[in-house]
Amino acid sequence: MDRTMERAANFLPRVDERGDTNEVSRRVVTLTAPASAAAEQYRTLYYRLDRLRARRPLKVVAVTSALPGEGKTLTAVNLALTAARAAPDRRILLVDADLRRGQVGRTLGIRGTPGLAELLSGECEVKDVVRRFQATRLAVVPAGRAPEEPAQVLASARMKQMLQAVREGFDEVYVDAPPALPFADATILGHQVDGVVMVIRAHVTPLKVVHQAVEQLGGVPLVGCVLNGAEQALTSDDGTYGQG
Ligand SMILES: Nc1ncnc2c1ncn2[C@@H]1O[C@H](COP(=O)(O)OP(=O)(O)OP(=O)(O)O)[C@@H](O)[C@H]1O
Ligand SMILES: [Mg+2]
Repeated sequence: MDRTMERAANFLPRVDERGDTNEVSRRVVTLTAPASAAAEQYRTLYYRLDRLRARRPLKVVAVTSALPGEGKTLTAVNLALTAARAAPDRRILLVDADLRRGQVGRTLGIRGTPGLAELLSGECEVKDVVRRFQATRLAVVPAGRAPEEPAQVLASARMKQMLQAVREGFDEVYVDAPPALPFADATILGHQVDGVVMVIRAHVTPLKVVHQAVEQLGGVPLVGCVLNGAEQALTSDDGTYGQG
């Protein structure tokens, strides 16, 4: 392990300065509507994973889906924020490993670069890419600038070193992964984590495609799935229950 990576184990994340940042997406309900039914669902998911953690090692959890746009980023962000709220004494990290279309930075209103891509290319050190999110305990590594060959970057020795370093430096790590289809990225990543959560966009993704994705992921440690958008008929736009 090189010295850059070693430092991850005892870093102090800097507070992200505002300026070229946007607002937190309204759909990060864990922050914007913590009392909503939607936020409660993320808490349920978090505690389910927590119960699993008692039975098996589950420090690094990746969130994927069959196709783009099913809700991976929103799930990973809300899950990590739920963890940071639920367990203030634990060190929680959110990593955006969707190197093709990383959205964690935009979703949280923090700068998206430099990030994981720059760390893995050797342009940056850990201290440059790990940011503390607002006043929370959550540390965040955004995706950075899309590299030319994301799958190769995710399969690199530096990625393995990075994951090893964050395993030492954090208690829980949530990884926003790319979709399982059509690229190899999610499969490569899935084999390096302890658990994979599969997000399925309700009423949109055909079951056949979900099966294809699971086949493509071949042997990654799937620990659960999330049916995203399933209760839209019951909930209003702000994620609270409607009258009807
Ligand atoms: N439960 C939901 N209710 C309403 N909108 C949602 C929900 N989940 C996701 N969305 C919206 O759907 C879009 C895609 O969500 P998100 O970015 O989380 O998906 P993704 O799987 O990460 O996509 P990509 O593959 O592009 O990274 C976003 O505009 C997001 O705000
Ligand atoms: Mg995404």
